[in-house]
Amino acid sequence: GNSDIDSKNFRVKLVLLGDSGVGKSCIVLRFVRGQFDPTSKVTVGASFLSQTLALEDSTTVKFEIWDTAGQERYAALAPLYYRGAGAAIVVYDITSPESFNKAQYWVKELQKHGGPDMIMALVGNKADLHENRSVSSQEAQEYAEKNSMFFIETSAKTADNVNQLFEEIAKRLP
Ligand code: GTP
Ligand code: MG
Repeated sequence: GNSDIDSKNFRVKLVLLGDSGVGKSCIVLRFVRGQFDPTSKVTVGASFLSQTLALEDSTTVKFEIWDTAGQERYAALAPLYYRGAGAAIVVYDITSPESFNKAQYWVKELQKHGGPDMIMALVGNKADLHENRSVSSQEAQEYAEKNSMFFIETSAKTADNVNQLFEEIAKRLP
């Protein structure tokens, strides 16, 4: 067939949530620019970036990404960013049990106030720091399954699984 006619172009509003310092901005920077910033600054309010991903079947998905600020003082702003979102990425740091607790808080908030068809991903970031791991993959996987999310561990530093994360979201779009 004619690829111009066959190809489909989707657009999705995506929000990242999670504790300050878990690596949300670094995941986005890795996905959008292919870079890693070891001196990444805390996000103030939120930042917006977009990136288009081409899938194997010539479908393209334009991600309109809201990278929120994880510091507690910005928590009240979160609904502005997750409202109307088609997908949410909830991030924790595999070396920080506190950040895993915070991730569960965000999952509950999304279940209460997010759209019913929102695609949700649970992401354990900083997988390169496995020697300091304190959240097991199995525990996180089980939590994700119970909450109808998909689970993946990433490293924004090494790029491990970062593209896969966005591909998995793209595949699940309606
Ligand atoms: P807020 O904007 O405050 O919500 O934080 P954030 O979640 O956006 O964190 P950010 O992406 O700014 O990263 C925080 C720190 O973690 C930075 O020093 C990063 O360099 C580091 N970091 C992020 N991702 C990784 C990773 O995959 N591995 C390692 N080792 N460090 C990472
Ligand atoms: Mg940030």
